[in-house]
Amino acid sequence: MGSLPLFPEQASTIAPEVDHLLYYLLTVAVFFTLLIFGAIFYFAIRYRRRSERELPHVIHGGLTLEVLWSVIPFGLTMVMFSWGASIFFTESRPPADALQIYAVGKQWMWKLQHLEGQREINELHIPMGRAVRLTMTSEDVIHSFFVPAFRTKEDVVPGRYSTTWFQPTKPGKYHLFCAEYCGTNHSRMIGWIYVMEPRDYENWVSGGGPTGSLADEGGRLFESLACSNCHKPDGSGRCPNLVGLFGRIVQLSNGSTVVADEAYIRESILQPTAKIVAGYQPLMPTFQGLVTEEGVLELVEYIKSLGPKPGAPAGANVPVVVPHQQ
Ligand code: CUA
Repeated sequence: MGSLPLFPEQASTIAPEVDHLLYYLLTVAVFFTLLIFGAIFYFAIRYRRRSERELPHVIHGGLTLEVLWSVIPFGLTMVMFSWGASIFFTESRPPADALQIYAVGKQWMWKLQHLEGQREINELHIPMGRAVRLTMTSEDVIHSFFVPAFRTKEDVVPGRYSTTWFQPTKPGKYHLFCAEYCGTNHSRMIGWIYVMEPRDYENWVSGGGPTGSLADEGGRLFESLACSNCHKPDGSGRCPNLVGLFGRIVQLSNGSTVVADEAYIRESILQPTAKIVAGYQPLMPTFQGLVTEEGVLELVEYIKSLGPKPGAPAGANVPVVVPHQQ
């Protein structure tokens, strides 16, 4: 049924699953619509009033009927719920080995950044057969990253990171839309996803960006913003050592803990006083307005690239799943 022109092409691993659930919903809806309309017409004719003096019997309910029309819809809707929830959970948990790509939405374009340094606008090149994890944010209003052929739609919200992932199954060129009304040129906030054979992708991506990898750029930004004056790699600075920070659990001065994921690092750059690491003073100025969202992503990548803390056991980094919210 994937070839029905009513449906977009199925080009990701999740696409057939989403469609099967949709077929189930459609079947249930159509079946009950026909049943109800059929019953209305049948009963209207079968039990019509045949004479002026005819009075209906008084009916005090029917237990069997009531049980049936409660239990059957309950069962059908529970199937919808559990099936939908299972797809939702799959979609919100990127595999650990997924290819990381960053996306920033702004009025009215998509900016995409590869770890190797390539930047694209309204185009995204990805390899076939490999899971791709997108970490996304917006510079202004809410946008939504929508690729019908992948059955992927995820809101892109200012002030936070949202993630989605997909695994393309077919090389080709697929539509990318913004699916959240975001102003005058919302309808032009469109682009293309190019799914390439893995070897072609390797060639495409190996060129690197004009200024090196994302982490390299983050490193340069780190120096130019003078972050390295306080965050010293040997831990002697006035601010926490960032080596091996990413993925670790951080003890805060208020006694709570936080996992050092992308969202925590972003917050620490833009609102440094929100969470103070235990044993440190709130000295850091905010970089809100001084660094773009893309700059923040470069800094996040730079901090990720600082590697594990010296002496930390292997596998100490816990995988971080950014919750999926609407
Ligand atoms: Cu961005 Cu609509």
